[in-house]
Amino acid sequence: MKKKDDVIIEVVNLLHRFPDGTAGVDRISLSIRRGAFVIMAGPNGSGKTTLLRHFNGLAMPSAGTVKINGISVKENLVRARRVVGMVFQDADSQIVGETVSEDVAFGPENLGMDPSEIDSRTRWALEKVGLSHMTDAAPHFLSGGEKRRLAVAGVLSMKPEIIVFDEPFSNLDYPGICQVVEQMRTLHAEGHTIVVASHDLDPVIGLADRLIFLNRGRVVRDGEPAIVAPDAALFGIRPVTGFMSQEERVL
Ligand SMILES: Nc1ncnc2c1ncn2[C@@H]1O[C@H](COP(=O)(O)OP(=O)(O)O)[C@@H](O)[C@H]1O
Ligand SMILES: [Mg+2]
Repeated sequence: MKKKDDVIIEVVNLLHRFPDGTAGVDRISLSIRRGAFVIMAGPNGSGKTTLLRHFNGLAMPSAGTVKINGISVKENLVRARRVVGMVFQDADSQIVGETVSEDVAFGPENLGMDPSEIDSRTRWALEKVGLSHMTDAAPHFLSGGEKRRLAVAGVLSMKPEIIVFDEPFSNLDYPGICQVVEQMRTLHAEGHTIVVASHDLDPVIGLADRLIFLNRGRVVRDGEPAIVAPDAALFGIRPVTGFMSQEERVL
């Protein structure tokens, strides 16, 4: 039985060495609980993207293991890809369809689902991200925030338990950031495990229950956001300024 608070992602002694010898991830061990909302923060080059890519097997360990729901990603790539949905940094590169609905249907089509299931998942996912009114639009004409929500819909159509966002706020204006933050809040409230890699803590710090700082491929801080966040500047991360603070959101 899957229970909230079980370990859903387990990383043990993970080393990722690139062909040029750089250790993108340098012996990281960590466990993430089902239902958690985790921020991985760190300056450019600290290893965030490399680490996330191991969660669904886009990268393979040079040493160590990554398990999702107790099953090694390396041993069962298909399963990992179904459980872990990845919203990439560059929303444009994730767009594959000529229309909004074709784009969302792409994943379920690839899984060989029957047309009625594809159709119902596509409608459901677009409804969830608030893009139902744009089904036939060309993705190209969407705003930055809408494009990222489209990418989220594409991921949701696969019904993953875990949703990983890599730099979800890059190139978004303030309304776009707010839309994506609201999306994350809803998905977390519905029980998804959320992992966000960001060099900017401000938009999401109020949603997280855990904050991890990475530096040079290593975990340098890991704990409750209120305890870890004050050390941001020590590791090249911009301190929290109160943008969308907990208080602000309650008002
Ligand atoms: N394809 C690659 N070849 C060699 N080094 C790489 C490659 N991709 C990333 N790196 C290096 O690995 C480290 C971690 O990069 P990355 O995971 O992209 O960091 P972040 O996402 O935190 O900016 C950096 O030193 C980066 O230069
Ligand atoms: Mg990155």
